Amino acid sequence: MKPLIVKLGGSVITDKGKPFTVRRGVIKRLARELKGIKSPLIIVHGGGSFGHPLASRYKITGGYREKTQLIGVSLTHRAMEKLNSYLVEALQGEGIPAMAVQPSACLIASDGRIESMQLEPVRKMLALGLVPVLYGDVVFDAKKGVSIISGDQLVSYLARKLSVSRVVFGVDVDGVYTACPKKDNRAELLRVITPADVDLVSSLEKGDQGDVTGGMRAKVLELLELARLGIEAEIVNAAKPNVLREALQGKSGLGTVITGGK
Ligand code: IPE
Repeated sequence: MKPLIVKLGGSVITDKGKPFTVRRGVIKRLARELKGIKSPLIIVHGGGSFGHPLASRYKITGGYREKTQLIGVSLTHRAMEKLNSYLVEALQGEGIPAMAVQPSACLIASDGRIESMQLEPVRKMLALGLVPVLYGDVVFDAKKGVSIISGDQLVSYLARKLSVSRVVFGVDVDGVYTACPKKDNRAELLRVITPADVDLVSSLEKGDQGDVTGGMRAKVLELLELARLGIEAEIVNAAKPNVLREALQGKSGLGTVITGGK
C-alpha cells in the first residue's frame, strides 16, 4: 500500500499567539484521529510558535552571516525537537509506532531548497510499519550556510521521492481563501486550485509577519508542483474534529483540492 503524507500545520498544533505553547488537547485528538488510518503514514509538522519566532529573531532565512546567529541555529533546532517530542509522545500514547526523523541531520539544502536527502531510513521505517515524524527545521545550506526548510517543502520533496497516494495538509482554516479569512470577511474559500490558476496563487497571502516560510501562498506553490506530477493534495481544517481523519480516509472536497486538472 502506498503511504499517505500528512502535514500538521504549526497553527494547529501550537498556539501561534503564545511563544512555545502546544495545543495539548488538539494534539491528543489528532493522534486519536490518526490512529484509525489503515494506510502507512508519513507525518510532517510545522513550527508554529516554536520554530518561527526564533528563526525570525536570528534571521536564519537570510543565511549565515555572523557568529551570533549560531546560538539561534541551536535554539531553533532545539525548539523544533521539543515540539516534535511532544507530538511523537502523543502518537505513542495512542499506540502509533511513531519515530522522529531529524531533517537537519539527513538533508542538504541549496539556497533554501532541498538539494539532497538520505531517504533510506524513512523507506526502511515504512517497510517495517513505523510512522516517521519529520518537521520543518534549520538545515545546512550549500549556498547560504544555513536556511529554514518548511514542513511544506519537506512534504513536497517526500511525495516526489517516495511514491505516495495522497497528501493532506491540516491547517486552522477551512482551506485556501482568496484573502486571509481571519482579517478579511470578503475572503472566499476556493474549492479547487490547478496549475492554470497562477494569477490567483500569486495574489494569495504570504503569511503574517514572523512567519519565516511564506504562509498559504508558499503551501499552494509546493502543492502545485505535486499536482503537475499527478499527485493530488488537499488542504483541510484540522482544527475541526474528524476533518483530518475523513480526508485521510479518502473523502475529497472537505477543503481545497490542489490537482492537475479540473
Ligand atoms: C517552519 O516550518 C519551521 C521553522 C520555522 C524552523 P513550517 O513553515 O512548515 O511551519 P508552519 O506549519 O507554517 O508553522
